[in-house]
Amino acid sequence: MKIFLAPMVGRTDKYFRRLVRIISSNIIMFTEMITVDSLIRGNIRNYTVDKSEHPVVAQIAGNDSKKFAECAEILTTSDFDEINLNIGCPSAKVVKGGFGACQIVDPYSVAKFVESIKSSTDLPVSIKTRLGLGFDQSLEDIKKFIKLTSEAGCKTFYIHARNAILNGLSTRKNRSVPPLRYDDVMKLKEIYPHLDIYINGGIVDLEDLKKLLKIYGGVMLGRKIYDDPMFLNDIEKNIYSSNSKLSTYDIICRYIDQLDEEDSHNKLYALKHLVNLYKGTCYAKKWRKFLHSMINSDQPIQNIKNFDYRSNNEKREINCS
Ligand SMILES: Cc1cc2nc3c(=O)[nH]c(=O)nc-3n(C[C@H](O)[C@H](O)[C@H](O)COP(=O)(O)O)c2cc1C
Repeated sequence: MKIFLAPMVGRTDKYFRRLVRIISSNIIMFTEMITVDSLIRGNIRNYTVDKSEHPVVAQIAGNDSKKFAECAEILTTSDFDEINLNIGCPSAKVVKGGFGACQIVDPYSVAKFVESIKSSTDLPVSIKTRLGLGFDQSLEDIKKFIKLTSEAGCKTFYIHARNAILNGLSTRKNRSVPPLRYDDVMKLKEIYPHLDIYINGGIVDLEDLKKLLKIYGGVMLGRKIYDDPMFLNDIEKNIYSSNSKLSTYDIICRYIDQLDEEDSHNKLYALKHLVNLYKGTCYAKKWRKFLHSMINSDQPIQNIKNFDYRSNNEKREINCS
């Protein structure tokens, strides 16, 4: 059973991935999306893989076969485990560039990109996409898309179970306004039983996650993990039967100990993803305030360990009154 950390720009950078890997050894992580142009220009700072990070999937976006092939070589050398094409981003900027969700209705080009990547690497190629475009809930476009791109060699699809609405809806609203349609992802699975079709979108509850894992074999979560990283601890214990005894404080210490000199000059980036660690406990507010003051102070990063906590009493959803 596979659980994936969804790609999230501004969130699933190397720092957040490092934190996630401390809490969960089982989750498969995605990078933030990077465009092929940006990757080729050498903007790979956040696209290198720590040894401890695997398995990690690089997500790229673009509309040029040659550039995809070039990126495939770069990502293979950088030691990623899979290359994922973003065919689901609804952002106006991305669509203006001719890539992202608008490519759902251009399956012949995307099939060429898949072939081009496959000619440059032995890494598996996958696609993250949505169920369709606009308000049309017919599955004809996505069926054709999956047929052609799978024939070109893509065997794994991560489906955000809603449409993308490209005109008049912000990127953020595109993650909540178009209705979730898990049943339609199921239909795609039934049509293409030989492919791995994994589900994504709106999953925030452990029991729902368990049910969906049984049906789909793989589930991708984004916001829930960012907003409450210790949910990964629940996943590890309840789904993978891990017996990690790390408290939230232990996780913070381990994270801080992994930071180097350069990271400590990059304090905001290195620390900001820790903000939700105490979510659901009575330390949440105190921790956020403390972290904020540390980020804005000249104190050494190691002083984060001075956070006044009571690890033995630390429980999720403590009633503090
Ligand atoms: C801040 C943010 C940035 C995102 N960036 C990307 C991205 O780079 N690539 C992508 O395919 N999806 C991106 N997404 C969409 C997520 O991967 C995911 O499909 C979406 O949030 C639905 O899953 P969730 O309900 O579990 O969060 C982003 C989502 C958020 C909240």
